[in-house]
Amino acid sequence: MNKKIPIGILGATGVVGQRFIQMLEHHPWFEVVWLAASDRSEGKVYEEAARWRLKTSIPQAVAKMKVSPATPEGAPKIIFAALDSAIAAELEPGFADAGCAVVSNSSALRMKEDVPLVIPEVNPGHIRLIDIQGWRKKSGGYVVTNPNCSAIGLVLALAPLHQRFGLETVMAVTMQAVSGAGYPGVASLDILGNVIPFIPKEEEKLEAETRKLLGVLENGAVRDATFKISAQCNRVAVEDGHTESVSIKLKKSAKAEEIVEQWRSFRARPQEISLPTAPEQPVIYDYSVDRPQPRLDVNRGRGMSATVGRLRPCGVLDWKFSVLSHNTIRGAAGAALLNAELLKHDGYLC
Ligand SMILES: NC(=O)c1ccc[n+]([C@@H]2O[C@H](COP(=O)([O-])OP(=O)(O)OC[C@H]3O[C@@H](n4cnc5c(N)ncnc54)[C@H](OP(=O)(O)O)[C@@H]3O)[C@@H](O)[C@H]2O)c1
Repeated sequence: MNKKIPIGILGATGVVGQRFIQMLEHHPWFEVVWLAASDRSEGKVYEEAARWRLKTSIPQAVAKMKVSPATPEGAPKIIFAALDSAIAAELEPGFADAGCAVVSNSSALRMKEDVPLVIPEVNPGHIRLIDIQGWRKKSGGYVVTNPNCSAIGLVLALAPLHQRFGLETVMAVTMQAVSGAGYPGVASLDILGNVIPFIPKEEEKLEAETRKLLGVLENGAVRDATFKISAQCNRVAVEDGHTESVSIKLKKSAKAEEIVEQWRSFRARPQEISLPTAPEQPVIYDYSVDRPQPRLDVNRGRGMSATVGRLRPCGVLDWKFSVLSHNTIRGAAGAALLNAELLKHDGYLC
């Protein structure tokens, strides 16, 4: 009775893997029973294998767990995956082939036509793409992905506006935290007192994923949204939290108060069906002139809300604003967890 669902974490020792462990410690539905990482960690107990970087302690139940090899043998049927993209491309299909539900953070399969790329507040219906996956037909396994950490904040801010006014053009400039690069990430001598105006493949991901997320599922395929989008991505010396300066042109004209109201009143499926990790308010609008700021606002909604501020007219497009979201919570582990909760609610985790 009330038995929790056993889950495993692939890439459990990394930045996102640690966030999974932290967020799952008191989860009402899921329980961590299996951890895997590279052969550097395999066979060690978790507390020795992981360089724990979070401010809470390693949960007792996990600290003494042995790190398993990253193969499906002996793994549970639900896998949260936090692997580098090249490794994910190699390993995730094998787990899906072996009948596992793979809830992935990696970019490896995000843009594959039959793989859902999902933010539960934005495009929950896209999970139905699972039904056409070859893995699903063969073994019951499948892969579901969440977007890149800067796409999530951007799309949470854009979705309510796209729904009501339609987007014509989007320009986004990101200021991305160092934790977004994994551990050890960017060398301190490169980032301290510095801004690095290049993150490999990030601009392409932000543009393509935003269009897929705001696209429409029709006849078993996602038709991407057609607005123009240009992204510029920077790494900055912030620990957690990606901030983005965004300018937009809308199809229908909108007043500032109508835009703010769209954000403030935005509620979607995860809120309606009370998924445990869903924030009460997915988008928080802050009227202060100098917010959002990562240090002050990154943990709003337990790290699951995007904070928007500084809405004002744009001299080139229609409107401009700033948006902030937590890259390892809303942008990674929390995003996957919310996807898994939606999958369970919709009967995909049997
Ligand atoms: N950090 C973020 O904010 C963020 C946000 C969204 C998405 N993501 C995505 O999430 C994924 C993980 O990112 P991260 O920041 O957590 O990276 P990370 O800190 O570098 O962690 C990588 C993990 O992968 C494991 N690993 C490496 N090689 C492996 C192999 N051959 N077989 C099995 N496991 C292997 C590592 O294990 P060892 O410790 O044993 O080496 C570690 O557990 C990436 O695809 C990243 O793009 C990250």
